[in-house]
Amino acid sequence: MLLGGQGTRLRPFTLSTPKAFLPVANVPMIQYQLSLLSRYKIDTVILAVSPQCQKYRKFFGISKSLGINLYLSCEKKPLGTAGGIRNAYKFLKGDEPFFVFNGDIISDCNLDKMLEFHKKSDADISIAVVEVENSKDFGVIVVDQDKRIEQFIEKPQQPLSNLINAGIYIIQPDILDEIPAGKEVSIEKEVFPELIKKGKKLFAYIHTGYWKDVGTIKNFKAANFDIVQGKINLDHANKLQAESFFSEKVMLNGRLSTGKNVVFGNNVKVSGTVIVGDGCYIGENTVLKDAIIFRNVLIGKNCLIEDSIIGNSTFIEDNCEIRDAAIADGCRFCQYTKIKNSGNSVRL
Ligand code: GDD
Ligand code: MG
Repeated sequence: MLLGGQGTRLRPFTLSTPKAFLPVANVPMIQYQLSLLSRYKIDTVILAVSPQCQKYRKFFGISKSLGINLYLSCEKKPLGTAGGIRNAYKFLKGDEPFFVFNGDIISDCNLDKMLEFHKKSDADISIAVVEVENSKDFGVIVVDQDKRIEQFIEKPQQPLSNLINAGIYIIQPDILDEIPAGKEVSIEKEVFPELIKKGKKLFAYIHTGYWKDVGTIKNFKAANFDIVQGKINLDHANKLQAESFFSEKVMLNGRLSTGKNVVFGNNVKVSGTVIVGDGCYIGENTVLKDAIIFRNVLIGKNCLIEDSIIGNSTFIEDNCEIRDAAIADGCRFCQYTKIKNSGNSVRL
């Protein structure tokens, strides 16, 4: 699993927390991928990490409970998406094909079907592909009628198709000889186009279920809401759905997911989709609408939080209004502060 990116599009949250640790419906993003891998009985997972590598030891416990042996492949300096795979391969044994995941996607891709497709097509590499309306921010793929990939163009100005790289690959191990060791190489910009030119067999496995790249604020928000709204068929997400929330202090007109030790004052109003993390306090008469509140956030009385993400340990005093904002960890807003931020992030 590739986790060596900087997470720049998820600032300010990734300034203090690596992307894989950010909460999606109150659990670390990486847990959705581990849960998917465990569903398909994949028992060895290697995390290819660059900055803060040792922090990822935190996931050893949860992996074990899912029947997964986890290894860390640390890059002293980022080796790029292909360099990261090359560097991690030493942890794998045998000459079986292996899966590669971008670490910031949430999906319910059927890995058994994808593997079957890979074998049937006798592919060197299979790439899971999804259809999107606006493809220019992704790796764009052009296929022939047998789904063999004719072109792979990373983030083109003018995309030639609506099929994009979903960030899940199956790779035959001998292909790794094509990636130089110990240097920065991009699988999207260098390896895929070069392999196609050389006549290697790259095939597109079309995934039609849930898929989201959670690497931007907009998509991160959307994925949080999708999970709470039950739009994805994943074991962990299904469990979340089953745990219904009830508090007589909250007037609930939508969906609410809460962590542990959350305290609500009287007459809190919740509408749309709202997620409140562990250890938060929400003061009386406060309105939460389509909001994601991370951990240990204290919100006073009579506030409005709408279309926003509030980072860990932030303190919002009484009578504040925060709309359309991404507030960093550890901020403090004095009473009567009003923010309407049009999606830009706020870091005090
Ligand atoms: N180990 C390692 N080393 N991982 C890296 C490095 C590195 O140097 N650089 C990036 N990664 C990881 C990121 O952490 C992320 O999980 C994944 O590789 C993809 O990088 P992003 O920075 O998120 O790329 P993107 O979202 O712009 O585009 C990629 O994903 C799209 C689908 O979500 C590309 O693969 C596109 O082709 C694809 O369509
Ligand atoms: Mg991404």
